[in-house]
Amino acid sequence: MSTGSPPSGESLAPRPPDLRVQVAGIELKNPIIAAAGTFGYGVEFEDIVHLDRLGGFVVKGLSIAPMTGNPPPRLYETAAGMLNAIGLQNIGAQAFLEEKLPRLRAKKDAVVFANVFGYTRADYEHTIEILNQGEGIAAYELNVSCPNTAHGGIQFGSDPHMLDEVVRSAKRVAARPLIVKLSPNVTSIGLMARVAEEAGADAVSLVNTFLAMAIDAETRRPRIANVTAGLSGPAIKPIALRMVYDAAQAVKIPVIGMGGITTPVDVVEYMLAGASAVEVGTASYFDPVATEKLVDGLTEYCREHGIERLSELTGGLITD
Ligand SMILES: Cc1cc2nc3c(=O)[nH]c(=O)nc-3n(C[C@H](O)[C@H](O)[C@H](O)COP(=O)(O)O)c2cc1C
Repeated sequence: MSTGSPPSGESLAPRPPDLRVQVAGIELKNPIIAAAGTFGYGVEFEDIVHLDRLGGFVVKGLSIAPMTGNPPPRLYETAAGMLNAIGLQNIGAQAFLEEKLPRLRAKKDAVVFANVFGYTRADYEHTIEILNQGEGIAAYELNVSCPNTAHGGIQFGSDPHMLDEVVRSAKRVAARPLIVKLSPNVTSIGLMARVAEEAGADAVSLVNTFLAMAIDAETRRPRIANVTAGLSGPAIKPIALRMVYDAAQAVKIPVIGMGGITTPVDVVEYMLAGASAVEVGTASYFDPVATEKLVDGLTEYCREHGIERLSELTGGLITD
């Protein structure tokens, strides 16, 4: 329970705040998770971030076969945000198991989530079946919401029937908890969250990037070779926050919130809106240590505000 003010007596050493949270039946030491596609396979960050201090991290989207992604330019900085059209470049699920996972397993207490992507339901199933063979993955995050590939991805995330089917088949084969990452490019996020829940998701995460574009007026060409791209970063935060609120109102399963988080107060806002944990993406591009700094910042925030158990903030928005 949160109390008023922190102990004032100098002799009383304050107890460290309890940052633990639960998502999809997994206990995390804190709610800060590095978001898919912005933290490589984790190993790229091991020299600069203490991976075991994070709540966890999501490795970049894995597919059944390696993917080269889209041609450059693939990134463009916008006002308070970033456009990307990486196109899910990755080494493939099997290579991830052989080349990356053993290194991650050596990092005791690091919590690894695997982001999964496919063009068809069978792709999703086979990718999960491959990943089921590896040890040391806490859960799968099903990416049904990437706006940057020609087919698949976003279609699953924007059509309720297709979402239902892909989540059901993924759940059937998944040997681990299933987090479904929802697309924000929909009319009713609450409906999509409920469809994912009823199809068996153990949690939903949102949002992925917003479909967007930028044009160079001088050359009259798109700034991104793919023409359209996904917008992320602080520019999307108020919209993402509203969507997390709507999703949390619609389902009973845990909600992982993300979109433009850069400060501990952002994390608190997402939790008040109903998130049990958060993911942090674009912030790592501007400061590679952003995720770990947020863990420290949250500890400080709780101390300053007399919050003993951070998880009690979830859904605490006062609306009257
Ligand atoms: C460069 C880049 C690559 C991304 N790749 C993936 C990906 O592979 N799978 C996925 O589910 N989301 C991917 N995302 C989306 C992020 O995980 C996150 O949902 C989004 O960027 C919003 O959070 P942010 O504003 O904190 O970045 C990517 C985002 C960026 C910026």
